[in-house]
Amino acid sequence: MLDLSPKAGELEAIETASRDEIASVQLERMKWSVRHAYENVPFYRKRFDEAGVHPDDLKNLADLAKFPFTTKQDLRDNYPFYLFAVPREQIVRIHASSGTTGRPTVVGYTKKDIETWSNVVARSIRASGGRAGDKIHISYGYGLFTGGLGAHYGAEALGATVIPMSGGMTERQVRMITDFQPDIIMVTPSYMLSILDEFRKEGIDPRESSLKVGIFGAEPWTNKMRGEIEQAFDMHAVDIYGLSEVMGPGVANECVETKDGLHIWEDHFYPEIIDPITGEVLPDGSEGELVFTTLTKEGLPVIRYRTRDLTKLLPGTARSMRRIEKITGRSDDMMIIRGVNVFPTQIEEQLLRCEGLAPHYQIELTRTGRMDTMMVRVEAAEGSGSDDARMASAKELATHVKNNVGISIKVDVGEPHSVERSLGKAQRIVDLRPKED
Ligand code: DLL
Repeated sequence: MLDLSPKAGELEAIETASRDEIASVQLERMKWSVRHAYENVPFYRKRFDEAGVHPDDLKNLADLAKFPFTTKQDLRDNYPFYLFAVPREQIVRIHASSGTTGRPTVVGYTKKDIETWSNVVARSIRASGGRAGDKIHISYGYGLFTGGLGAHYGAEALGATVIPMSGGMTERQVRMITDFQPDIIMVTPSYMLSILDEFRKEGIDPRESSLKVGIFGAEPWTNKMRGEIEQAFDMHAVDIYGLSEVMGPGVANECVETKDGLHIWEDHFYPEIIDPITGEVLPDGSEGELVFTTLTKEGLPVIRYRTRDLTKLLPGTARSMRRIEKITGRSDDMMIIRGVNVFPTQIEEQLLRCEGLAPHYQIELTRTGRMDTMMVRVEAAEGSGSDDARMASAKELATHVKNNVGISIKVDVGEPHSVERSLGKAQRIVDLRPKED
């Protein structure tokens, strides 16, 4: 694979600034952001007053821990526009979550917010190995989801030639990749696998494609999956993280030269790791829930927003800003099977060890009596189709999961292409257990 490390002078000064410089920028901006929220959003004023804290109490970065958390429910309760900190006329863009449960969460951006966002996405693409003049194929969905337009504006800000494909129409995706010869693709890792299927179906060698880098995010994926995609396409696979409440894609990104976790763009987003039960701030290096405070956002500042994503904070490497470890899962996706906590990524990791199986999977949860059962639906890899081979693969996966995750599962190995494909974020868990009252 190509060496895409940055050359001298290619990075922004803040990316290699000292920790002291970063902390001083953060403190100044944090004071502004907390005051901005307090003075312009009735919700924050009420919350801070109730908690007995005032923006004046923020004297150093650690003082942030005195302030109350903000949750997804708070955004829902203030649907649609009540958390905006500027007059609605100054909001130039709205995005919203899909809202599969309850009301969607709505976010708004000022002109300056869009500029900030574009710049952090441009920085993310550069960290992934992209440069001005590259052709970037974007298959994140366009629309209310932040993926498509977020990536698009960032790619333009970088000076790239943007191909705004959006998700879906997989045959057409392959056609455009073959004809337009993009250097970079930005897409969810699960949809990249559907694109890979299509390459193979059409008899086109993916390793011969023009793609040098894939920038994958919006859902959890494992290092094993990285290996699978890098091998298949002979390209770098780099992780991008973000969430709409905080900004969208580009809150953190891996550097292609190290691929050792995602550097948080700490000059705009201040991270904390907390104990998800007690809310206590944990020291760097501890596993817990990631919490963000926006430092520069005008339209919708968020103070101590609980992401529900589980990870740890690590010191900087390729950049001086801190990293998060690849996100293993959301607390929402944690399954408890006979007392053992399990995330879909743990199943993915074991699945990718099984030669006879394709990397697609879905987890079905059922309940008999008081026992929860996990059935993993997978499919035979192309060309390894005999019944005996499938039985052996099912057994192999169940054994790997038993030995490494510690739970007993059922495995259903279907025909190639039998597992539902995603066009964006994959739905990994199908929960068929009766709802608790
Ligand atoms: O998924 C923004 C995004 C778009 C990120 C494109 C990266 C690429 P939401 O729809 O608000 O925003 O979903 C945010 O997705 O809290 C995580 O649980 C999950 N997520 C996003 N990126 C990653 C990642 C976008 N790289 C939620 N690894 C977040 C694991 C991720 N999970």
